[in-house]
Amino acid sequence: MSTDELAPGRKEGADWWATAISDIRPGVIRFHGYPIEELIGAVSFPQMVWLMVRGELPTPGEARLLEQTLVAAVDHGPQAPSIAATRMAVSCGLAVNNAIATGVNLLGDVHGGAGQQCLEMLYGLDASDPAAAAGEVVASYKARKAYVPGFGHRFHPRDPRRDPLIAAAQQAVADGTISGRYLELALAVETALDPVPMNVDGATATIYAELGVPAELARGLFVLSRSVGLLAHAHEQQQQPTRIKGPLPKPVTPTYTGHPPRSL
Ligand SMILES: CC(C)(COP(=O)(O)OP(=O)(O)OC[C@H]1O[C@@H](n2cnc3c(N)ncnc32)[C@H](O)[C@@H]1OP(=O)(O)O)[C@@H](O)C(=O)NCCC(=O)NCCS
Repeated sequence: MSTDELAPGRKEGADWWATAISDIRPGVIRFHGYPIEELIGAVSFPQMVWLMVRGELPTPGEARLLEQTLVAAVDHGPQAPSIAATRMAVSCGLAVNNAIATGVNLLGDVHGGAGQQCLEMLYGLDASDPAAAAGEVVASYKARKAYVPGFGHRFHPRDPRRDPLIAAAQQAVADGTISGRYLELALAVETALDPVPMNVDGATATIYAELGVPAELARGLFVLSRSVGLLAHAHEQQQQPTRIKGPLPKPVTPTYTGHPPRSL
């Protein structure tokens, strides 16, 4: 029965959580119209992610690009604050869901979340003259002494995820999957920012811009990818006996910079 046929009070209740994503009723599970029985075994996880957030199935080329971005960001070891925080949470006795949420909560504008800002920047650039647009935007960040989102890395002189992702985007331009408009802009920004290279957030944002992903979805996709690493590290930490593992080994104490010792 469609909700239009329900009595007014029931209809108000049914419409309370109205959604265009999932159609769930006894014996029925459909997403954007497709029954789960057909989706299982027919679509890959990246295709499923795309269907859920975009409402249509991607082409094989689009799905391949999304998959590459999801693979790229899964983990960066306990060097990454998000991973370390999850492991500390496990050592403090938190359950795996709370531990993963602890790591996810560290993904913001500076760590892991810069893709959203990078996408906003790319979407705002005038593609008719990439070099001029890039020169202008880099100059405006530099004038504000601000970091250009999606570029630079505190750890890698050149982020090893940059080259394969950009190569994948170039291949996708060659096979007609994407236009290359945002790839050209992103590379122009990199040239203008030389010697600071694009990082994983910038390279994935470039691909997301080519795929027309809304900026706010970019951070969510990063969270989705990084959650795989968070889960793996949470599980590994669960196997270890250490309890209340702090950010530093016990013999190392943080440098104290306050008043010299004194007494009342
Ligand atoms: C990641 C980040 C914090 C590393 O910064 P950092 O530790 O200062 O990096 P470095 O020490 O290697 O910086 C070297 C120089 O490049 C500059 N630089 C680095 N990243 C830059 C960026 N994104 N935009 C402009 N300049 C940048 C630094 O200001 C520094 O300049 P200086 O020598 O004149 O002081 C920084 O690059 C950043 O905030 N990037 C944007 C956010 C982002 O994309 N985060 C996701 C990382 S995966």
